[in-house]
Amino acid sequence: MRNILIQSPASRLCRPRISFSSRWRHVGVTIGVTLGVTIGVTFFSACSPKISETTDSGSIVFSESLSGVWEAKVGEPEAVDYLTVSKPIPKKQAITDMPTNGFPEFAQDIEYTVKNGKTYLRIPLDREEKIYGLGMHFRSVQQRGKIKRLHMDHVGGQEDGRTHAPVPFYVSSKGYGMLINAARYIDVWVGTAVRKDSDNPPVVRDRNTDRNWSAAPYSDAIEILIPADGVELILFSGPEMMDAIKRYNLFCGGGPMPPKWGMGFWHRVPTLYSDMQVQAEVLQFEEHGFPLDVIGLEPGWQSASYPCTYEWDQSRWPNPEKSMKELDEQGVKINLWINPYIPPGSNIHNKLADYTGSHTVWAGEVPDYTLPDARGLLQEHFKSNHLDIGVSGYKIDEVDGYDAWLWPDVASFPSGLDGEQMRQIYALQMMAMINESFEERDQRTWGLVRGNTAGGNRFPFVLYSDHYSHQNFITALVNSGFNGVLWTPEVRNSPTGEEWVRRMQTSCFSPMATINAWASGTKPWSFPEVYEEVKAAALLRLQLFPYFYSAFADYHFEGIPPFRAVQLEKGFLDISEEEKGTLDGEKNPYALARQREIKDQYMAGPNLLVAPLYAGETSRKVVLPPGKWFDFYTGEFVGENEVIIAEHGIDKLPVYVRDGGMIPMIPETLHTPSDGEQVPLTFRIYGTAPGEFLLYDDDGTSYAYASGRYNRVKVSIEYSESGEAISKIDAVNPAYPWAYQEMKFEFMTLD
Ligand code: GAL
Repeated sequence: MRNILIQSPASRLCRPRISFSSRWRHVGVTIGVTLGVTIGVTFFSACSPKISETTDSGSIVFSESLSGVWEAKVGEPEAVDYLTVSKPIPKKQAITDMPTNGFPEFAQDIEYTVKNGKTYLRIPLDREEKIYGLGMHFRSVQQRGKIKRLHMDHVGGQEDGRTHAPVPFYVSSKGYGMLINAARYIDVWVGTAVRKDSDNPPVVRDRNTDRNWSAAPYSDAIEILIPADGVELILFSGPEMMDAIKRYNLFCGGGPMPPKWGMGFWHRVPTLYSDMQVQAEVLQFEEHGFPLDVIGLEPGWQSASYPCTYEWDQSRWPNPEKSMKELDEQGVKINLWINPYIPPGSNIHNKLADYTGSHTVWAGEVPDYTLPDARGLLQEHFKSNHLDIGVSGYKIDEVDGYDAWLWPDVASFPSGLDGEQMRQIYALQMMAMINESFEERDQRTWGLVRGNTAGGNRFPFVLYSDHYSHQNFITALVNSGFNGVLWTPEVRNSPTGEEWVRRMQTSCFSPMATINAWASGTKPWSFPEVYEEVKAAALLRLQLFPYFYSAFADYHFEGIPPFRAVQLEKGFLDISEEEKGTLDGEKNPYALARQREIKDQYMAGPNLLVAPLYAGETSRKVVLPPGKWFDFYTGEFVGENEVIIAEHGIDKLPVYVRDGGMIPMIPETLHTPSDGEQVPLTFRIYGTAPGEFLLYDDDGTSYAYASGRYNRVKVSIEYSESGEAISKIDAVNPAYPWAYQEMKFEFMTLD
């Protein structure tokens, strides 16, 4: 199905020049569809020595590989890309069960050129079209009008595509998604550039006299440059943006299913903490009645770090096996911090020395884990030193890079990959390798990583950053759902108690509720003046365990991101014909508000809208998604199709529930339920509309769910004509785990 250039005799004499004229586009599509080849070249009438060589160009021919998923190969894609590294197994049945609106017509007009070792793409845009995704941005959500170089990096403050998750996937408000599957620094002009032969050019204006002159004139295309001889493209259909995202996630294997303990509270201790200090800290959590499921050990658990030995430090951790056992008996799992670089002379280096790249990082060598033998050696080391004694997972640090200390792009690796490719895939490769080790022992893991990209969707790792702005953290959370990644707004320290509690509240409504006290030594009770509020937020997180766990099941089985933008809510971006072009803050404020950039509120699970308050704020605007919404805490109606003002003291994070929203909760607890534990469950019911909820349960620790050993049960509420509530619960399979024998309903809005 590869596109090939049909050479005319003239091309041997003269160099062909690419043309994006609609005439040639038309020819390309017609012939491409019937013969499986495309033509898209025109020729100069006379030879010119200045013309550069064109290898291949034309319109792209896609072929449907799964319902609503089309793939195309342009030129000669490289052997290593994001999907060859992550090796996802698409959830075919779930994709087939989804609605599709067929092949998007505009995609026939996508054009490509492969020239001088680079691939150029031009993807048409409609005037009203909005673009989301293209990685984890910390300051913006809508990407049309932006220029990005998708480059794996830490985040400092830049908004140029260098980020912890430079995912080359985007969704369009027109209802499609596109994956550009190349492990390269990809440049994307998201509706910023204008070709002189554009079908839809901007108006020429005189800046001297025309107030509407713009420095950024209208552009009708996304243009993309991949520094490689070809690329694989994968197109995902709607009808809605959410459908395209679901397809993308399912194509990449579905979201990860956390172990139950992953949904509890996490605390990372100061870097040089010993076994005794960790024990004392765990006791303090118990004494304070503060939830705790996981303790994270930072670099000092190792005999040396930066580069890392992956060996326990004998003075701080003389008997790690005994320590793991004791902590496990207290209901606490251990997560280990690592980075990939290994010091010459260490045991791990002795094993891996033949498999490292040309450059070092902090004088440590950089293993090439694309080589199966190298992977095997590290996996064996981790197994015997960590997994076999009870370590539950890892925090994979420094895989995003920082130019000053990382290998440069000129680096080379034994597999033949270059520095650029390795930088783009390192995080993916580390996650794949560690995930495989846990899968092999049928043990779920949950951890952290500082880099992720396309294909990493199914790996059980949550992104974090050294960048530390509460506002930016929420924008990153909003963006994570467009990109198939998870993000934690972890809490480290705060200048005031007010900021501490505001940060803790949002962390408790995220994929990982966590304090990272590696440098600060903070504890949940570090700000006594707000301790009760902080504790309430953490206890609420645990009470919401069945809700969040079920939301992750929706991610795994249906590809629905558990944390995501409000723009993905049905009808959110819709405006009526009359409203188009006439949006006005006086006449149609709600429509106008929905079209604007919204980056400070998000959906959590199927029914909750979260609108964080930041330090210094006592109220804020909340743009409600269409329909009626109710206050989470009181059940009171708060608004319908409007922008509301949220006011909450520091005791509460503004959270709203949709009409008919059902929220399953368990009693206050300090640990998530263990395998086989029975817990009573209360469904809070909001509003007056009928509702339904898919409540999920499994053993919480193994991969048995992957072979169908789980319950995903529909619970619904309807109302009779006289207003009487009727609840229905689908049959639970008693052969599979089910923790909720007792179930009650609490009507929050209705008496
Ligand atoms: C940083 C990381 C922090 C902490 C620290 C330990 O790179 O982002 O979360 O783990 O290393 O040295």
